[in-house]
Amino acid sequence: MSWSPSSWREFPIKQQPVYEDKEALEKIEKELSTFPPLIFSGEARNLKKDLARAGRGEAFIVQGGDCAESFAAFNADTIKNLFKLILQMSVVVAYSSGKPVVKIGRVAGQFAKPRSSDFEEKDGVKLPSYRGDIINDIEFSKEARKPDPYRMVRAYYQSAATMNLLRAFSRGGLADLNEVHRWNLDFIKSHPIGQKFEAISCQIDKAMKFLKAAGITSENAPELRQTTVYTSHEALLLNYEEALTRTDSITGDYYNTSAHMLWIGDRTRDLDGAHIEYFRGIKNPIGCKVGPSMKPDELVALVKALNPDNEEGKLNLIVRMGADKIDELYPPLLKAVRDANLNVVWTIDPMHGNVEKSSTGFKTRDFDNILSEVKSFFNIHREHGTVAAGVHLEMTGENVTECTGSASCSITVDDLSSRYHTQCDPRLNANQALELAFMISENF
Ligand code: PEP
Ligand code: CO
Repeated sequence: MSWSPSSWREFPIKQQPVYEDKEALEKIEKELSTFPPLIFSGEARNLKKDLARAGRGEAFIVQGGDCAESFAAFNADTIKNLFKLILQMSVVVAYSSGKPVVKIGRVAGQFAKPRSSDFEEKDGVKLPSYRGDIINDIEFSKEARKPDPYRMVRAYYQSAATMNLLRAFSRGGLADLNEVHRWNLDFIKSHPIGQKFEAISCQIDKAMKFLKAAGITSENAPELRQTTVYTSHEALLLNYEEALTRTDSITGDYYNTSAHMLWIGDRTRDLDGAHIEYFRGIKNPIGCKVGPSMKPDELVALVKALNPDNEEGKLNLIVRMGADKIDELYPPLLKAVRDANLNVVWTIDPMHGNVEKSSTGFKTRDFDNILSEVKSFFNIHREHGTVAAGVHLEMTGENVTECTGSASCSITVDDLSSRYHTQCDPRLNANQALELAFMISENF
């Protein structure tokens, strides 16, 4: 079956905006298709190798960031704090496991959101749902909720600037292992978790001094002073993704150049739908969410469609069942894929199956459920002799109050209103995310 970056247009598609002005849409798509790529295909190939290592149990994946990036919260501090948090979590996991951590941000392009309903109703007024800043505005007014294709251009530029800063942080000194103390975020330093991190930092300092005495420093060993943070997002808005899909001059293959890795959401993974059609043609490493409605034979068919050559590191299955369902629903899926000898990289998203509405009306998630789902995931893999390769989280380096619980900052339902800033789903704050990283490190 022939494939092209636009062949998805012939297939049924879900979760898309309706643009009124088709001419304006086409003009923007054309413009975007001339813009420079945000990543180089060689980087996507490196990520594929890193994911393959994680799939074999030789590395661990920490993937995380906002549920939805926003135009309003776009500034250097939020990017820097997310970068620091990813580094902190990676050090915690790497220090205890002795394995490298593959760092992937849900960042620099995570703008489009699937919604449970096409419309939102407030005080008798019915408007199209908010679908992410790349599509429309969160404000509840007719004008704001109208999909505007120009937002794709703005999302592109924001992604480019975000990527630029991440690359600068990765290479420019902040990622130096001599700087580990500086990664500890100000508002968690005084908390038990921040202090636990400080203790690891001191041990790393000692190790660095020892290495220096042996003649190995960050001047002569670049691995000590730089890192790689890959980017990823849900490739939901295919008009945007198509425009950023380019032929690689080295291999002649198609790559999506808007991020290193793209994933398919749980609501748009129909085997004969547009998203699977688009994804089967790109060479990037890709992810697919696996929620409670997935059936074992459906999953096997999906894996074969998305990774026909059974390549290692190509396909990441991101499990998101919910703490109360994972023990029952996950093992049959895992067994089916294992028994069919299919190469996949399994990670756990303990966020999307654990959403609840608090008594005060906020959409939240309880830290205990998040921890519990991650623990179950590890246990199930242990029982089946397979590899639990990583975590996929909604988190922020900011001091928000969006998820309840955790020993380190114990947010109650009544605290939620104090710093509830998310555009979409509730995120772990830095304290909670770091506490989770310590739990993971103890499970190795
Ligand atoms: C998400 O990752 O933000 C998301 C919408 O997840 P899912 O597709 O698993 O519901
Ligand atoms: Co989300």
